Amino acid sequence: MQSAPASAQGIPVAYNDTVVRQFAIMTIIWGIVGMAVGVFIAAELIWPTLNFDLPWLSYGRLRPLHTNAVIFAFGGCALFASSYYIVQRTCHVRLISDKLAAFTFWGWQLVILLAAITLPLGITQGKEYAELEWPIDLLIAVIWVVYAFVFFGTLAIRKVRHIYVANWFFAAYIITIAVLHIMNNLAIPVSLTKSYVIYSGVVDAMVEWWYGHNAVGFFLTAAFLGMMYYFVPKQAGRPIYSYRLSVVHFWALISIYMWAGPHHLHYTTLPDWAQSLGMVFSVILLAPSWGGMINGIMTLSGAWYKLRTDPILKFLIVSLSFYGMSTFEGPMMSIKTVNALSHNTDWTIGHVHSGALGWVAFMTIGSMYSLIPKLFGRKEMWNIRLIDVHFWIATIGVVLYVTSMWIAGVMQGLMWRATNPDGTLTYTFVESLKATYPFYEVRLAGGLLFLIGMFIMLYNVIKTVTASDASTDSIAIPAPV
Ligand code: HEM
Ligand code: HEM
Repeated sequence: MQSAPASAQGIPVAYNDTVVRQFAIMTIIWGIVGMAVGVFIAAELIWPTLNFDLPWLSYGRLRPLHTNAVIFAFGGCALFASSYYIVQRTCHVRLISDKLAAFTFWGWQLVILLAAITLPLGITQGKEYAELEWPIDLLIAVIWVVYAFVFFGTLAIRKVRHIYVANWFFAAYIITIAVLHIMNNLAIPVSLTKSYVIYSGVVDAMVEWWYGHNAVGFFLTAAFLGMMYYFVPKQAGRPIYSYRLSVVHFWALISIYMWAGPHHLHYTTLPDWAQSLGMVFSVILLAPSWGGMINGIMTLSGAWYKLRTDPILKFLIVSLSFYGMSTFEGPMMSIKTVNALSHNTDWTIGHVHSGALGWVAFMTIGSMYSLIPKLFGRKEMWNIRLIDVHFWIATIGVVLYVTSMWIAGVMQGLMWRATNPDGTLTYTFVESLKATYPFYEVRLAGGLLFLIGMFIMLYNVIKTVTASDASTDSIAIPAPV
């Protein structure tokens, strides 16, 4: 379906919003599925018998299903939707090819479906965040190249000379993810469902964490910053606080992120200099990260009052606050002596979800609330009050999740390193596990709240989309440039 008028020069442009609508709706559906699996595995950690002795319900198989579903299905669909929407609005042109854009949508859904089948069956490469086997990897590579063609092709035919900063972030993420995906997944297939990665030993570990860390840096960070640079000014009704800072932020962030991966491999057989290099770059990374956060939050200067009445803005601004928190915490955790305490504990899980729920999911939810009424020709969401309810439930959910994991993590780290005067360990591992149970219960409650919030969002979206005067024509929105 196409859309209505726009363009800053008054020339009508029919945007391709069909693909944006499809990805936007699937963002919510996959968000619910991925988070429901998250809640289930959180429950399994308390009641292991929940696997009912079925291999495909076991924790080891469902955990990668959760991570793949929330990162690549929920996060991925959100990024496809927002990048396609933003590149058209800021370049004042329709996507270069409707057919190829549709191919990326259906192809990506097929990848998600294949992941949902193969991971519970135990078909995996065993590389974290890159579990999918080689035929699916090949499919991802093809879809990604087509995605790059659609995005860069649209940039190339733009009617506006200037390239808005959000597109720079999307461009960096598309190129980097292609390189990371291909390099990390180089493997020799031995059957349709089994392959062996070409790297071995510490080289494999280094390549894996170069990939893993930059998946965080470019998929979960740079691309969501692209979303932030469009939707925060748009929702606040003000230009970005400092355009100059956004350019400095971009170049500093993408050049530093690449080097920080070794902080995942402290105290391993990776050469010591490489570990220290990773640590130093991680600490430096605090500066551009906070530059971006400040730029986003300060966009509201002079309009803080809007936070009182606009729950969408609340989602976006709290998201930036979590971004600031997790990018302060990350550099601290990358310092070797701190990592000696935090590594392998639930502190890492707390850090992950302060980034993943607080930053990524909040940014996505806020942006989708802003986007969906426009995509379906509505003035606003069906019920604003429900967005506020969602905001508070989700906020309490994240806070319960993250604080319980922080406390549990520090406690575990301290218990594991405690020694008696004769040098023996003060606590057995099981004692530390027993002490962790209450925190797992709090985390489960937090996760459940977050999931309930997503159902509230789904209800609100269904009502918005199906309301009687809904039309599929989109409203013309001038670009924030
Ligand atoms: C209702 C919300 C969620 C719940 C209840 C939940 C629960 C969990 C649980 C129980 C684990 C395993 C922890 C462990 O092994 O000790 C986990 C891991 C993980 N989750 Fe979530 N999660 C949720 C949402 C999300 C979202 C939205 C994202 C990303 C956008 C995410 C990303 C991850 C990642 C990357 C890991 C692996 C962390 C690591 O290996 O260190 N989660 N989650
Ligand atoms: C300046 C930014 C950041 C730095 C320097 C950083 C640093 C770190 C460090 C040191 C660890 C622990 C490694 C270990 O002990 O195994 C870690 C884990 C992790 N971080 Fe961050 N972090 C940053 C931001 C973020 C953000 C914003 C997110 C999410 C959106 C995130 C997601 C993750 C994930 C998923 C892991 C777990 C990886 C795994 O073991 O599976 N990080 N990070």
